[in-house]
Amino acid sequence: MTTPRFEHHIFVCTHERDEGRSCCSAAGGLAVLERFRNSLRERGLTARIRANRSGCLDACSCGPTVVIYPAGVWYGGVAPADVDEIIDSHLVSGKPVERLLLRCSTDKCDRPGGCC
Ligand code: FES
Repeated sequence: MTTPRFEHHIFVCTHERDEGRSCCSAAGGLAVLERFRNSLRERGLTARIRANRSGCLDACSCGPTVVIYPAGVWYGGVAPADVDEIIDSHLVSGKPVERLLLRCSTDKCDRPGGCC
């Protein structure tokens, strides 16, 4: 078995959907991605943790949507101001940020204002 290149891989949806439908692009996904990249760089973590742009993750109304592997932890409604907390609490200290966790399934939403 090979060693993974990165300890954590962060995928940030920046997908844009047509005709005014909810999407992570409109919700600010690109700004979240840029904050992850800058913050990882500032903390000297780019050799261990990678942040990539993602296409639609099928949680469009909860955007910007973020998923982190290999743990498979999903976050929704992430703002640039949340990024440092995700890095410090989850990626460095191993404690996911509960208030941002995306717990929805396709038939049930637990977020105020609706979801996917
Ligand atoms: S547009 Fe981001 S999850 Fe669909």
